[in-house]
Amino acid sequence: MPHTSIPLSQLKIGFIGAGRLGRALAWSLDTAGCRVHAVASRGAERAAEFAAPIAHCAQYPTQQLADECDLVFITTPDATIQAVADGIRWRAGQGVVHCSGATEVAVLAKAAADGAMTGGFHPMQTFADPAAAARSLPGSTITIEAQGELNGILLALVERLGCAANQLPAGARARYHAAAGYASQYINVVLGEAVRIWQSWGATESQALPALLPMVRGTLASIEAAGLAKGMPGPVSRGDVGTVEKHLAALGELDDDTLRLYRDLCLRSVSLAFAAGGIDADKAARIEGILREAKS
Ligand SMILES: NC(=O)c1ccc[n+]([C@@H]2O[C@H](COP(=O)([O-])OP(=O)(O)OC[C@H]3O[C@@H](n4cnc5c(N)ncnc54)[C@H](OP(=O)(O)O)[C@@H]3O)[C@@H](O)[C@H]2O)c1
Repeated sequence: MPHTSIPLSQLKIGFIGAGRLGRALAWSLDTAGCRVHAVASRGAERAAEFAAPIAHCAQYPTQQLADECDLVFITTPDATIQAVADGIRWRAGQGVVHCSGATEVAVLAKAAADGAMTGGFHPMQTFADPAAAARSLPGSTITIEAQGELNGILLALVERLGCAANQLPAGARARYHAAAGYASQYINVVLGEAVRIWQSWGATESQALPALLPMVRGTLASIEAAGLAKGMPGPVSRGDVGTVEKHLAALGELDDDTLRLYRDLCLRSVSLAFAAGGIDADKAARIEGILREAKS
């Protein structure tokens, strides 16, 4: 356990913003034996919902919350974090963190100027329904960015939540958040493309998804077991040039966009197949050549 001046379970934690992430995180911290002392939010109804399942969680105006709490999570939308931080008189030694993946910790400059310790605490998880999200949080990774004592406190909170910690240097947040999209919303985009192709022969999304999702789960299991390269399925992994040619011809009959996306993704799969040893350099060059020549 890292050294902190206040024992973790006695640290008074406050939340500004009672939305999806704020509620899921506060409920998880409460369940993990931490002291969620107060919430401040724009709407009283949301704040009441936030506080209801937590014993002794007060609903305060933001300044009173900041005055009483040792650690404040600003869980308002990204665009409002700086204005919220700028509008508060912080005190030396308290911790102030935001939970945005893409926003630099420097937006908390007012808190730092007032003597507070500032940081970032970004759970790599999707928070649509707060109750479901609170259940899915253990086992997730939380990216923290902080210095000194605050870093120790945030690491200890991550451990309490049953999560893994990822540490990020200053200046990398936008890149890091863009990368997270590939494990999140771009899965929707790639499956949306598959569904669109199914629709070309009259099938519906509700027919396509139940057929595609078990394959997604199988692929994820394969990646977990063997890694990205050796865990990659598909014709390129086997060096099956003829099948790739059939795909290009079939998708070329649909429209240019469909062919272009297939070609770009398939090109990216060639280096993985080569790294896995599934194809040699000649076969890799041949597949790349066929893909690059495909007209779109
Ligand atoms: N949702 C996710 O999956 C997720 C994942 C990782 C990180 N995050 C980060 O978590 C933060 C919050 O996102 P969210 O999805 O929880 O947003 P959200 O559901 O829209 O909730 C934001 C909350 O902040 C309140 N609020 C807005 N402006 C405020 C202000 N000036 N002062 C006090 N409260 C204010 C809102 O009040 P009302 O209830 O009145 O609207 C709402 O309760 C963001 O930085 C986001 O990037 C979200």
